[in-house]
Amino acid sequence: MTRYAATHRLSIENPVEFWAQAAEGIDWEERWNQVLDAADGLTGRWFAGGRLNTCYNALDRHVERGRGEQAAIIYDSAVTDTKRTITYAQLLDEVTHFAGALAANGVAKGDRVIVYMPMIPEAVVAVLACARLGAVHSVVFGGFAANELATRIDDAKPTLIVSASCGIEPSRLVEYKPLLDEAIDLSRHKPSRCILLQRPQVEAPMHAGRDIDWNDAMAAAKPHACVTVEATDPLYLLYTSGTTGQPKGIVRDNGGHAVALHWSMKNIYGVEPGEVYWAASDIGWVVGHSYIIYGPLLHGNTTVLYEGKPVGTPDAGAFWRVAAEHKVAAMFTAPTAFRAIKQQDPSGELIKDYDLSGLRTLFLAGERCDPDTLHWAEDKLGIPVIDHWWQTETGWSIAANCVGIERLPVKAGSVGPAAPGWDVRTLDVNGNDVGPGEVGAIACKLPLPPGTLAGLWQAEDRFRDAYLTTFPGYYETGDAGFVDADGYINVMSRTDDVINVAGHRLSTGAIEEVLASHSDVAECAVVGAADHLKGQLPLGFLVLKAGVERDSSDIVGEAVHLVREQVGPVAAFKNAVIVPRLPKTRSGKILRGTMRKIADSEDYTVPATIEDPVVLGEIQDALGSIGYAK
Ligand code: COA
Ligand code: AMP
Repeated sequence: MTRYAATHRLSIENPVEFWAQAAEGIDWEERWNQVLDAADGLTGRWFAGGRLNTCYNALDRHVERGRGEQAAIIYDSAVTDTKRTITYAQLLDEVTHFAGALAANGVAKGDRVIVYMPMIPEAVVAVLACARLGAVHSVVFGGFAANELATRIDDAKPTLIVSASCGIEPSRLVEYKPLLDEAIDLSRHKPSRCILLQRPQVEAPMHAGRDIDWNDAMAAAKPHACVTVEATDPLYLLYTSGTTGQPKGIVRDNGGHAVALHWSMKNIYGVEPGEVYWAASDIGWVVGHSYIIYGPLLHGNTTVLYEGKPVGTPDAGAFWRVAAEHKVAAMFTAPTAFRAIKQQDPSGELIKDYDLSGLRTLFLAGERCDPDTLHWAEDKLGIPVIDHWWQTETGWSIAANCVGIERLPVKAGSVGPAAPGWDVRTLDVNGNDVGPGEVGAIACKLPLPPGTLAGLWQAEDRFRDAYLTTFPGYYETGDAGFVDADGYINVMSRTDDVINVAGHRLSTGAIEEVLASHSDVAECAVVGAADHLKGQLPLGFLVLKAGVERDSSDIVGEAVHLVREQVGPVAAFKNAVIVPRLPKTRSGKILRGTMRKIADSEDYTVPATIEDPVVLGEIQDALGSIGYAK
């Protein structure tokens, strides 16, 4: 039996022993009573009775044990041409003071704090300061519109919001403060305070009595000690798209999260404490939470915080520059970033300008990785390229070729075998295992390993309905695919209406809600059409109200603008078409899957349940007029 197979088997046959051993990597204030209390909550609780502080484990203990002078964060901002190295001792100092500032402004254990910030070190400081206080952070990605921020404010009900005056996109400055003010106006819940970092590029107006300048708050702050929390207390909420416009607030606990992420750094990513690790993502996404902030810091690594893009800041050599300059040992990004680089520098000329001898492994995740992109990266970099699969809900990999345990052969198109802790099955509609190579719904047998979702924020019924009901005894991932005879998993598509745009997860339902609010639109549908760069792009179908005779390009333009205003630029909603009717089943269900296949020029069978097959021809013609369905 391979080392991987033995490790995986132990984790499934004896999860208690397996994770108790992994938990030795964390410093506990009090050890747990039970490694896994399977009866607690809907899916069980890890390390019940254990007490710890996640910030202590990410910072204080490293300083106490001699890592004070090691870089904790290397901030590399290609968009402002700034670089800054922050040691563990310096980061600890900033975090203790910011925790003091939060406490002085009314934040206590269990309170929520929304962090709406760009990729700057202060965002990491804010997150860790919340963890230090036992407050629950919820980071909101900067590319969302005010309306999306307002939805999250109303759900999380934060005591305080931490923000900055602007984010910097290569083509424009994104002023955060007007978006923040608008979101607070829109929301029913009002935070009592906002702490705002003024970046030099934009000076934001302050709201007297509510807004406090970051520097003033820090100057007045006294350092704050770690507040011990239960292992099962929430560390953070992270909202992600589901099938409706209402995002899901994924709850992550403290104890299981610290254990799993610490374990993953060595076992999945194969790095040792002290090495430089770089996740080129954004702190607004789960990858940023787990592998820009918590994983590397819990493990005593140096993390790179990169504010820039893979291309255009200034060129397609940006990733190689950062990796070479900061001696990155392991790197993690989304395939879309590599597709963008490959498009601009197909022969990888720019790679030759940099010394990448320290880079051992490249990890990809966030969307399906096409074999072409994988092979290109392997060929140009000459190192193992590991695709691995996970979700906001799971917090770390469900499937991965765990190079720290044993590097197995890479199979292009596959996300590797199940990671230790994960009992992955492919099921038919009746919940029976389909055979190797057969496509089914991918589900994971309960209990889930530590570090995965503890539930949805104050929505137990939704948690049960969304993940635990279709296949009793399993967690339903929402992905479909197959497992080959060697146990390698292939994730092929979603089973719901979630789409994946440049590694960003979006709900077609949320975009449809916005389109439906246009005064001329009677009915609409959104599908994810294939895109060679971003994987998928949302494509809208609009049916107009009877009697509307306005210019259709005006209506499409307004619809595009509306989605940008309501969901945000990150939705990348640029294409819509007006159609006379939507194809539906006789029971009224919109045939989105068939529409997507027509848009992508794929073969399709006319569904037996379709109300009127003629509609499909109308869809084909309309799509042809905007360059789809060729
Ligand atoms: N704040 C405000 N706006 C943002 C933003 C942020 N943090 N991030 C992105 N946006 C905006 C962009 O400016 C763009 O707006 P535009 O329509 O005015 O051009 C829009 O949202 C879409 O952004 P993006 O998806 O980044 O597309 P792009 O065309 O600018 O760049 C890539 C394409 C491939 C280079 C880019 O998508 C990328 O780097 N992807 C990596 C994906 C990734 O890290 N995923 C995380 C999961 S691991
Ligand atoms: P998110 O929660 O934003 O991380 O998105 C999770 C979803 O992205 C998964 O459910 C998959 O649909 C998709 N995904 C993530 N990683 C991969 C991968 N390596 N291969 C295929 N799909 C992936």
